[in-house]
Amino acid sequence: MCDDIERVLLSEEEIAAKVKELGAQITRDYQGKNLMMVSVLKGSVVFMADLMRAIDLPCRIDFMCVSSYGSGSSSSGVVKIIKDLDIDLHNVDLLIVEDILDSGKTLHYITKLLAERGTASIRIATLLDKPERRVVPLSPDYCCFSVPDEFVVGYGLDYDEQYRNLPYIGVLKRSVYEK
Ligand code: IMP
Ligand code: MG
Repeated sequence: MCDDIERVLLSEEEIAAKVKELGAQITRDYQGKNLMMVSVLKGSVVFMADLMRAIDLPCRIDFMCVSSYGSGSSSSGVVKIIKDLDIDLHNVDLLIVEDILDSGKTLHYITKLLAERGTASIRIATLLDKPERRVVPLSPDYCCFSVPDEFVVGYGLDYDEQYRNLPYIGVLKRSVYEK
């Protein structure tokens, strides 16, 4: 295990099982719909790659990049679009795919922005939810795991752009970010 990880919170196997289950649920819910999945870069890429392959339906994907965090571990509240979507959203059943719902500021902003583009529906699928940290009233339509208020990395989630490639989700040692 990586030296900077205090403990493994969710193993590779636990994540894989839950993502498969969520994919099956989305497959049932989106029968006959015009599904498009939007991954919010970069944290959700690993989840997106696994989730889309667990969905047995015609589906399009796109990517959007926003920044709400600098290199620190708490939300700045400032959301900036770095890369917008390429695909038109008219009559699309949009599923926004996020790594973690923390304060909710990022998703609140993205959802409001994309709702103005003629979508038929918008739902949120998040890998992790930290409900204790919510500042904006927002709850995910689909969520794999609720996690305690600790800083986690791996399976796409970063601290200062590191640790995204860990195959599990681990709690980062405080000493790493409290220098
Ligand atoms: P929010 O706007 O506060 O909900 O922040 C959401 C974003 O903050 C996520 O997409 C992550 O990039 C980042 N984030 C929040 N908590 C964590 C964490 O524990 N580990 C890594 N990134 C986090
Ligand atoms: Mg991030």
